[in-house]
Amino acid sequence: MIHLDGVTKRYGDTVAVDDLTLDVAEGEVCVLIGPSGCGKTTTLRMINRLITPTSGRIMINGQDASELKAEELRRSLGYAIQSVGLFPHLDVAANIAVVPRLLGWDKPRLRGRARELLELVGLEPEQYMGKYPRQLSGGEAQRIGVARALAADPPVLLMDEPFGAVDPLNRGRLQGEFARIQRDLHKTVVFVTHDIDEAIRLADRIAIMRDGRLVQYDTPETILDNPVDHFVRDFVGSDRALKRLVRVPVRDVMDTAPPVARRSAGAKEMLAEVGRTRFVYLVDEQGRLTGWLDRAQLKGGCTVEDALSDADPAQVAVRPDASLKEALSRMLGLGFRSIAVVESDGRLVGQVTLGSVEGAMTESDEHQGARPAEHMAEYSAEDTSDDSVLESIASDDQGDCT
Ligand SMILES: Nc1ncnc2c1ncn2[C@@H]1O[C@H](COP(=O)(O)OP(=O)(O)OP(=O)(O)O)[C@@H](O)[C@H]1O
Ligand SMILES: [Mg+2]
Repeated sequence: MIHLDGVTKRYGDTVAVDDLTLDVAEGEVCVLIGPSGCGKTTTLRMINRLITPTSGRIMINGQDASELKAEELRRSLGYAIQSVGLFPHLDVAANIAVVPRLLGWDKPRLRGRARELLELVGLEPEQYMGKYPRQLSGGEAQRIGVARALAADPPVLLMDEPFGAVDPLNRGRLQGEFARIQRDLHKTVVFVTHDIDEAIRLADRIAIMRDGRLVQYDTPETILDNPVDHFVRDFVGSDRALKRLVRVPVRDVMDTAPPVARRSAGAKEMLAEVGRTRFVYLVDEQGRLTGWLDRAQLKGGCTVEDALSDADPAQVAVRPDASLKEALSRMLGLGFRSIAVVESDGRLVGQVTLGSVEGAMTESDEHQGARPAEHMAEYSAEDTSDDSVLESIASDDQGDCT
């Protein structure tokens, strides 16, 4: 779909991009990553014909980009630029609608599209449509930039650090949203980032650049398992085992039959359940997670009511789409050995345990012929006791309820 063939861009003595050959297949996400100044933005700008290569050729959908008409280019490429670049004299709705307006859409369609895209990037349409760029925070402006790139629904998206200024929470959400859109729409995407976790999460293939040259172009799994040299190895970082977890959605490894009881059930039923596992999730009539019950507390002579903990699913659960890395960091943050999995309406659909995270890590270690670290193996031996469910890592202080 996008084919760069020996593309070079020189500025005097500076070689911004050096003999770059790169193919991006239709419907694939290619993430460009590398140190500042390695030529990522220059590459995007050449694909979008904002600058002309010194030498080499760029083909888009079988056509030489230098021969495409401006109109065709606009229709086929959506570009979210690094500096955002909103028009200061246009409000948010008009900024989003720039390309569709050039393509002749009528007013109601333009406004409808702006509204739809604002919702998509997580900004309340009524609140934001009429604002001007100077009234936006950096992260908000950036999201408008992304909405603008998507506005005319182009088959190719060029995105230059589109979530760079967005806070980690919204960034994770936008990444999830991006991955979801991509599953449905199969755009051909060239996506620039400095964030290796973002690259691993979103890319079909990662292009690692250095000094204008392509160092490695492979799937995230291959880059993690077989970095071509020290530069890539260092760039990816020492926690490669953890990073692999970014690629695994919770949905793929969760236990779909966690121990569960209705909150309205009698104490007897609950006790029968806790007789088997230390923790039991409690749900309401609709199956939504409302808390859990801890057997260790009952042993200490408490009533069932004493042993109940109320849960706010936003705090103590993850979504099925979350990555295993996110689930792990939430477990560690909470001091739990497992975490509930809930749908957006709060319904409990499963749980993920430290054991299953370890399983996923071991699987990819075996895949690359390495042995899991000793201490992880010891940890799992401890973890496979009968208390494998929702056990607190700091469980010593849970024996009684005084
Ligand atoms: N108009 C220009 N004139 C001269 N040199 C330029 C020009 N544009 C870019 N360069 C140089 O080309 C190199 C690549 O720049 P580019 O903007 O593509 O880097 P980048 O990988 O996007 O970096 P960053 O991660 O900081 O955004 C840099 O050394 C930069 O200084
Ligand atoms: Mg750049």
